[in-house]
Amino acid sequence: MRVRKAVLPVAGFGTRVLPATKAIPKEMLPVVDRPAIQYVVDEALEAGIEHIVFVTGRNKGSIEDYFDIAYELEVALEAKGKDAILEQVKQTKLPAGSASFVRQQSPLGLGHAVWCAKDIVGNEPFAVLLPDVLVKGSPSCLAQMVEAYDKVGGNIVAVDQVPMERVSSYGVIAPKGERDGRLIEMTGMVEKPPVADAPSNLKITGRYILQPEIFGLLESQGKGAGGEIQLTDAMARLMEAQSFFAYEYEGQDYDCGSKLGYFEAVLGYALASDEIGADAKALAKAMLDKL
Ligand code: G1P
Repeated sequence: MRVRKAVLPVAGFGTRVLPATKAIPKEMLPVVDRPAIQYVVDEALEAGIEHIVFVTGRNKGSIEDYFDIAYELEVALEAKGKDAILEQVKQTKLPAGSASFVRQQSPLGLGHAVWCAKDIVGNEPFAVLLPDVLVKGSPSCLAQMVEAYDKVGGNIVAVDQVPMERVSSYGVIAPKGERDGRLIEMTGMVEKPPVADAPSNLKITGRYILQPEIFGLLESQGKGAGGEIQLTDAMARLMEAQSFFAYEYEGQDYDCGSKLGYFEAVLGYALASDEIGADAKALAKAMLDKL
């Protein structure tokens, strides 16, 4: 069955980028000219996703507003003849009926956040995209994964390589050694391992295609790393019963959950922008020359 639905867990407090996130969700922080979450939604839509399930929490209402119609704004822009910007504003609206919102009431972990979407996803394969992570790729990271999924089915998790000293910040896979292009067979995966115990330097990027059986496993999943219910732990159990591949995608990831990662994302997208890219490059060069 085709991957039609995507779950975006957006309930986190954004503690690593406080106080910026005191009154607005971290997902709404701008990267050049749009909120970070817009890039992730666009990635999902490019991959053919038809319904997005946002797992939200308190104080996340602006995400719901952002993807809705902004009637007064549209009328005002139209009256002023600002057609180009009006078109861009209209494009941020998700098609009628294609978004759902469910709240994760307690911060029990990523696994619990995904589990909160189970009734809306139902009994079909689905994608998970962590909006902290922006992945610049063409085709998009999820589109690459969907293409691989259409060939091999089962479950797929996106991975990329990190320097070994950083593996303990991520989920890490244990590759079997056999590869079919970008698809990697696995023997296991572990969440936030100490560097000495890490099975590889292939980290889980934050893009997943999962079968609905994951929900039953999440239901009984005990606490793992950081005292939280970890998606990685439930996936490691699912791997015992179902086919599970890692996919080393082509593209560049930015971890907007940290200050430096967020800065890198803004810089990366600004430099690549058609509108301001050339000027941004000249500006960055001039600033560096002054150091
Ligand atoms: C989550 C996942 C982890 C993954 C990471 C990607 O961790 O649990 O497996 O590698 O996202 O950014 P978090 O960043 O929420 O601690």
